[in-house]
Amino acid sequence: MTDLTGKHIVLGLTGGIACYKAAELCRALIKEGATVQVVMTEAAAQFITPVTMQALSNRPVYGSQWDVRAPNNMLHINLSREADAILIAPCSADFMAKLVQGHADDLLSLMCLARPLDKVPLLIAPAMNREMWAHPATQRNMAQLALDGSTILGIGRGDQACGETGDGRMLASAELRDDVIAFFQPKTLVGERVLITAGPTYEAIDPVRGITNLSSGKMGFAMARAAREAGAEVTLVAGPVSLATPRGVSRFDVKSAVDMLQVVQEKVTTATIFIATAAVADWRPANAADQKIKKDGSGKTPELSFVENPDILAIVAQSPRGQHQALYCVGFAAESHDLLANAQAKRLRKGVPLLVGNIGPATFGQDDNALLLVDALGVTDMARDSKLSLARKLIAEISTRIKMKNQK
Ligand code: C5P
Repeated sequence: MTDLTGKHIVLGLTGGIACYKAAELCRALIKEGATVQVVMTEAAAQFITPVTMQALSNRPVYGSQWDVRAPNNMLHINLSREADAILIAPCSADFMAKLVQGHADDLLSLMCLARPLDKVPLLIAPAMNREMWAHPATQRNMAQLALDGSTILGIGRGDQACGETGDGRMLASAELRDDVIAFFQPKTLVGERVLITAGPTYEAIDPVRGITNLSSGKMGFAMARAAREAGAEVTLVAGPVSLATPRGVSRFDVKSAVDMLQVVQEKVTTATIFIATAAVADWRPANAADQKIKKDGSGKTPELSFVENPDILAIVAQSPRGQHQALYCVGFAAESHDLLANAQAKRLRKGVPLLVGNIGPATFGQDDNALLLVDALGVTDMARDSKLSLARKLIAEISTRIKMKNQK
């Protein structure tokens, strides 16, 4: 199963140089399992040919409401009724204005007006010069489109084809793909503010060496993405990893456990859910050297002594908000054996309502995992799957538990 399996998306292109990105977007949506029906305005066809889009989508491309290929000559009805969503990418300033006014003088605008509002959502990826974007008319139109129920996917900033630099570029095709995937995920955490720790920590021995572990951060980043997709505000506190920040997530990078605790304590005051996926180092060198420790040729090895790191999860879970579950805390346990017994013991020791166990050596660095959820009611098994699929299921489980808690 890919993330858009079974979804039929009408991809509308309007006039703008960002049409070149729509070709890649079309492929990306299809790769995720969607079927894509391309509709282009006359202006869009000045920037990219219908032939390109036809080859990529493997379907005829439509541009005119007078196209005689539709047996009933009602393309605007046929195309809008079969769509799970209409995505306009790129959406020009002019096309936004047309949508606001309800114009219907070309196939794409006609189709947007004719779509059943309750069944076919409209997603808009604006693309224009920065002055056009900043113009009060465009800003007004954008606000009105949102009020009318459309989803504005946002814009990028940076160098523009016109030579200027600023806001108004179309988002990259991968960003739009992820936004479309997120759009279809169930919104189970709307109104929640989720704080997540992820990755390993790095405990310095001296300025060039340190102690870390094999955690890749993938599970924590997948949790952040899944929580965001579910509609939560998400803050991610990440140890040293080289992973891209999921769309719409605010990220704070830290190195050591002590740094991680400091950022968590700052951010946790406004959170409603805390998920600790980080593999925090249990110990750190007692006295990190200010200068590189040199070998002197005598064969003598440095003496290292350690102190225990603060247990971030236990500190947060045992705070008053954690104890009253105004802050719902979720811990992870990476074990090598006796997963169930260790996970149950760890849940009680840390004082968290939900503890998620996994076998560390079988998952560190991998793209998949298997989970065991332990809470007061019992044990739930989650069979091996991709970390993102598991993260989505786990977010659904967390949301169910929070709803149950709120009903009490
Ligand atoms: O005790 P252990 O490291 O096995 O506990 C794992 C859980 O506790 C994970 O959720 C991890 O993120 C969290 N933890 C923490 N701070 C530590 C150690 C673990 O937040 N110093």
